[in-house]
Amino acid sequence: MNNEGVKHLSPVWSRSSDIFVDYGQGVYLYTTDGQRYLDFTSGIGVTNTGHAHPQVVKAIQEQAARLIHGQANIVYHQPMIRLAEELSQILPSQLDTFFFSNSGAEAVEGAVKLARAATGKSNIIVFQGSFHGRTHATMAMTTSRTIYRAGFQPLVPGIFVAPFPYSYGYGWDEETTVKFAIQELKRLLKMQTAPHETAAAVIEPVLGEGGYVPAPASFMRELRQICDENDILLVADEVQSGFGRTGKWFAIEHSDVVPDIMIMAKGMASGMPLSGIGASRQLMEKWTPGSHGGTYGGNIVASAAAVATIQVMREENLIDHSAAMGQILMAGLRRLQEEHPEIGEVRGLGLMVASEFSTPAGQPWSERAQAVAQACHQQGLMLLTCGADGNIIRWIPPLVVNQEQLQEALSIFDQALNETK
Ligand SMILES: Cc1ncc(COP(=O)(O)O)c(C=O)c1O
Repeated sequence: MNNEGVKHLSPVWSRSSDIFVDYGQGVYLYTTDGQRYLDFTSGIGVTNTGHAHPQVVKAIQEQAARLIHGQANIVYHQPMIRLAEELSQILPSQLDTFFFSNSGAEAVEGAVKLARAATGKSNIIVFQGSFHGRTHATMAMTTSRTIYRAGFQPLVPGIFVAPFPYSYGYGWDEETTVKFAIQELKRLLKMQTAPHETAAAVIEPVLGEGGYVPAPASFMRELRQICDENDILLVADEVQSGFGRTGKWFAIEHSDVVPDIMIMAKGMASGMPLSGIGASRQLMEKWTPGSHGGTYGGNIVASAAAVATIQVMREENLIDHSAAMGQILMAGLRRLQEEHPEIGEVRGLGLMVASEFSTPAGQPWSERAQAVAQACHQQGLMLLTCGADGNIIRWIPPLVVNQEQLQEALSIFDQALNETK
């Protein structure tokens, strides 16, 4: 295999491995030199139906043979209409109108523009540890690590940061943490961004890149209430937590809170580039026609893949399966935690699970987490880390993963923990 061309790729891509992939099937990736890996990264939470699910592949192939590009400003097409219908069934019923784009960041940008257009207000609140993307506005909204911002100042103004209720990170119990985060949010609205100039609060219901931390339901409910009292839109960024990842269609369902705008991407189309935002018709109608759009958004092949993805998730009962497999995974990790105190906390919802590494003094233990992830990789298990210190191993397998594959991953992890002691 000639890999000379690598020198023509920009080094700006950071890499968790240097393997050359050939093809994928279910939870496995196969390399060009014939190695098999258990892919517990899902391509950063994308391949929820597994790699190359036959129904998704068929939908893509059949659509590509008929039409590859039906531009959304010029024509309507059935896959997009069907997708909007499907989404109106799986999102909270109030969110019945959709706009489509290509990437997570692009959808976040769209949500911010919609919030500004609909409220006539400018400012946006985000939460500490947030990751919303790498475009200019989303970079200003991203606080998970300085690498995403350093050297790119000045950032887009009008973004304000409130604490995320990350109990383990603060070293407090959940009640104390929620109380603190709510108090600081209220102070932010009094001291930095007045409600009359605040358009939206954008939150990941499960903090993703920032550390795989589910926001407690009590926090989400109080946040909803504060938004209502102050005419601020609540925006849920479900780019990573959506489409069954947490054992519900969307993570926000764990708290019964309905956002004003929902942002979706990643798991939506099993790997085809597609993202979207959902809101009520009333809200969407406040967005001046032509003031937002994009050449490729809602691409016909990607839309067909998304419709097939939702069908597969229904037919294979992947939402319940994700919840059940998540329980097994967390129980297995907690068993290992008993023998390995360097695992400070195991937390998660469904198959969005974290194992956070701490030193005996209770400090983030990045080197250990990185060494364990590397040792797992050597044994054929692909894992990603996250968090500001990179001391959190995230468990994010395709939702089609079965019990045997989970046990295999846990036993590789156990071995890696022992080897890297
Ligand atoms: C919660 C969240 N929002 C937005 C994004 C940005 O998505 P993209 O990389 O597709 O632009 C990500 C990507 O990881 C994400 O996890």
